[in-house]
Amino acid sequence: MTQGARPPAGAGDGRRVADAVDGADDTRAANSLVAEAVTLAYDRRVVVEDLSLEIPPGSFTVVVGPNACGKSTLLRGLARLLAPRSGAVLLDGRAVHTLPTKEVARRIGLLPQSAIAPEGITVSDLVARGRYPHQGLLRQWSVADEDAVREAMDLTDVTDLAERAVDELSGGQRQRVWLAMVLAQQTPILLLDEPTTFLDIAHQYEVMDLCADLHEQGRTLVAVLHDLNQAARYATHLVVMKDGVVVAQGHPGDVLTAELVEHVFGLPCRVVPDPASGTPLVVPEVRRGAAGRA
Ligand SMILES: Nc1ncnc2c1ncn2[C@@H]1O[C@H](COP(=O)(O)OP(=O)(O)OP(=O)(O)O)[C@@H](O)[C@H]1O
Ligand SMILES: [Mg+2]
Repeated sequence: MTQGARPPAGAGDGRRVADAVDGADDTRAANSLVAEAVTLAYDRRVVVEDLSLEIPPGSFTVVVGPNACGKSTLLRGLARLLAPRSGAVLLDGRAVHTLPTKEVARRIGLLPQSAIAPEGITVSDLVARGRYPHQGLLRQWSVADEDAVREAMDLTDVTDLAERAVDELSGGQRQRVWLAMVLAQQTPILLLDEPTTFLDIAHQYEVMDLCADLHEQGRTLVAVLHDLNQAARYATHLVVMKDGVVVAQGHPGDVLTAELVEHVFGLPCRVVPDPASGTPLVVPEVRRGAAGRA
């Protein structure tokens, strides 16, 4: 992994985005992220026990499951923010907890579910922090850093907010700024915990399309989503969790059935083909409040 020799990433040129990622030439071959029999806990509360999961390299993996089932905990474990009580998370076969922090940060970017910005920080300064893993002790802010920040802000549509204070933004604007920070990190693996939370419907699909573009350019994505229909549209690999356990995984078209949704979420529903995309569409059964019904 050479630093400084990277070509600047140009906005709007998808191929160059991927080229700017460390190790992007073999993004699909490398970047294997595997949880091997991990147990994740907070003090005495064990949330995930003995969980094994392989993130297919180059996949757009989406994790779904009810509130408090352990999705964010799993992402924290994968990103090495939470050390496993037992088992290991392996990045290209090496335990992430034995790797230097900066090396992991150059490989794995995490958008946490709720992040708190330093008070008064501006949008451009926060996004620039995404470049930290790329700075050496003596290395100055470079053209590549500048380009990465500009491109990340452009892709997430926050350029116009550059000089605003992050804590003065709306929830949706703030969410896009955090996403920009993670994109500026230019990691081949992206872990996104509810990237569409707080976003209006148009911005949700913009962010999902952006994720799909990043995936097409060779990144490996793992996103936690609550919208099963978006999950079915965008995921190449769907992981369904319940009570800290992976209960199903595979292609959304194979995995997402009415029985599974009822079993995992307790929601009676039908699963029909999405009229726009043909992917599974979860339609809850009417229980009450069907206003306008004849
Ligand atoms: N920092 C913490 N300390 C103690 N317990 C925690 C902590 N964070 C999460 N938990 C507990 O771990 C369990 C799983 O939480 P987690 O955040 O992983 O769920 P989740 O699936 O991401 O839920 P949601 O859909 O609501 O985001 C919950 O019971 C939660 O209360
Ligand atoms: Mg969560």
